[in-house]
Amino acid sequence: MSIETKQDYEGMRAAGAVVAETIRRVRAAVRPGITTLELDAIAQRCFDEHGARSGPRVDYGFPRTICISVNEEAVHGIPGSRALAAGDLVTIDVTAEMNGYYGDAAETVIVESGSPIAQRLKASAEAAFRRALEHAVPGAPIWRIGHAVEMEVKRRGFRVLKDLCGHGIGRSVHEEPSVPNFRDRTARERLTENLVITIEPIVAVSASRSRTLADGWTIVSADRSLTAHHEHTMIIRNGRPELLTAA
Ligand code: CO
Repeated sequence: MSIETKQDYEGMRAAGAVVAETIRRVRAAVRPGITTLELDAIAQRCFDEHGARSGPRVDYGFPRTICISVNEEAVHGIPGSRALAAGDLVTIDVTAEMNGYYGDAAETVIVESGSPIAQRLKASAEAAFRRALEHAVPGAPIWRIGHAVEMEVKRRGFRVLKDLCGHGIGRSVHEEPSVPNFRDRTARERLTENLVITIEPIVAVSASRSRTLADGWTIVSADRSLTAHHEHTMIIRNGRPELLTAA
């Protein structure tokens, strides 16, 4: 969406704040032995306290509240009976709808310390996100964001999952424009003042494609290598990106 009124701005800030709080509370509970369904319940409790709802459930019929994707699972993992183990790379992806406004963010955390490669992969998604932010300004063509992501991830020896993108957001989870994570020459549209988008590098150790599992939701790296993800919702505002979902 493009922010047009004070109500839009305040609605988007409030939805973003719920997303940030939910990620903080779920992240704080991550430990060996906890199940992903227990983490999902923490998210639902936070949503209930604020009168928020699960964006993927409202828009797409996702069976739980938040997406939790472990190791080779890149996005849309369904919380369930899986117990986390030390070293797991766990992506907490939270999309909330509140009063008709949506916010979306994701963070990958490592259960306890993790292997050096897991740490480097997580750091590469975060660094690529920061690089991309430099191009989230009015007038910039969208391909520059993906170019910045891809360059940083490659420089660190990893891959972007090219079939997974950032997106416009606001009145629903996924809106125009698509925000690719590589230099997509077709993404010539330019960012405009007041546009709301997500930037979300989704990276893997050695795959650049993903595939969907038989459950119809869970998307894994095609070669099952480890994945990491870092995402925030932002408004392009006053000439810079204003993050709505930062803790
Ligand atoms: Co997203």
